[in-house]
Amino acid sequence: MQKVEEAKMTQLNGKERLIVALDVPTMFDALKLVEELKDEVGMFKVGLELFTHCGTKLLDELKKLEAPVFFDGKFHDIPNTAAAASREIGRRGVQMFNVHAQGGSEMIRTAQKAAHEAADEAKVPRPILLAVTVLTSISQEILTKDLGITDKVDEVVARYAVLAKASGADGVVASAKEVPIIRERIGKDFVIVTPGIRPSWAAEDDQKRIVTPKDAVSMGTDYVVVGRPITRANDRKDAAKRIAEELSV
Ligand code: C5P
Repeated sequence: MQKVEEAKMTQLNGKERLIVALDVPTMFDALKLVEELKDEVGMFKVGLELFTHCGTKLLDELKKLEAPVFFDGKFHDIPNTAAAASREIGRRGVQMFNVHAQGGSEMIRTAQKAAHEAADEAKVPRPILLAVTVLTSISQEILTKDLGITDKVDEVVARYAVLAKASGADGVVASAKEVPIIRERIGKDFVIVTPGIRPSWAAEDDQKRIVTPKDAVSMGTDYVVVGRPITRANDRKDAAKRIAEELSV
């Protein structure tokens, strides 16, 4: 419990704010990257591609390396199933994991309760639970035409963030653009993790609405997720160091 509270209350330094996306295809590549960067960054994000390739063995290996993990599994299922999956993740000592806010209040609550119980039983720190609001790949058109939700994207994001907080989640994953409205509705005591980050010296790749690390922090985010500007840099350690410096504001 203390870890979660600490993350919400403590002023993070640049290194602690930096989460590197382990968007590599194999366990070998992932562990190599972690060994290389673990002194420069605060956390490593394990996404669905790597996880479906490696399974929970990867989480156990990362634990052996004492690498803090954000498990980006985005659970969204009936409460009983989401809770069972959260239990498996909770007992592995990850630092953060996430569920879709669209799963609703009961799902968020049961997922968190299960993760906390499993962490306590395994005597590992309780993970921070984040909710995904509206994926950044969902445009206004998709939201309205495909999903039948006529409100503005920002409004839906803010509503889901409020729901997540009321259901016990510790924070959300949100684009930098959405951070101000979330802070306005919820305040400071809520963790925000932001992807789509590009330092001024890096390529944009396929990201559309990018912000620099420094701007993301001034907009109110707590943690940033960075992938290719670090993982594809010629000198990955140096890239990570430079971004961590930029995050120290
Ligand atoms: O390489 P890049 O910095 O673009 O990687 C960003 C990471 O954050 C990827 O793992 C991507 O899947 C994830 N992400 C994102 N945008 C979202 C949610 C997650 O870029 N809205």
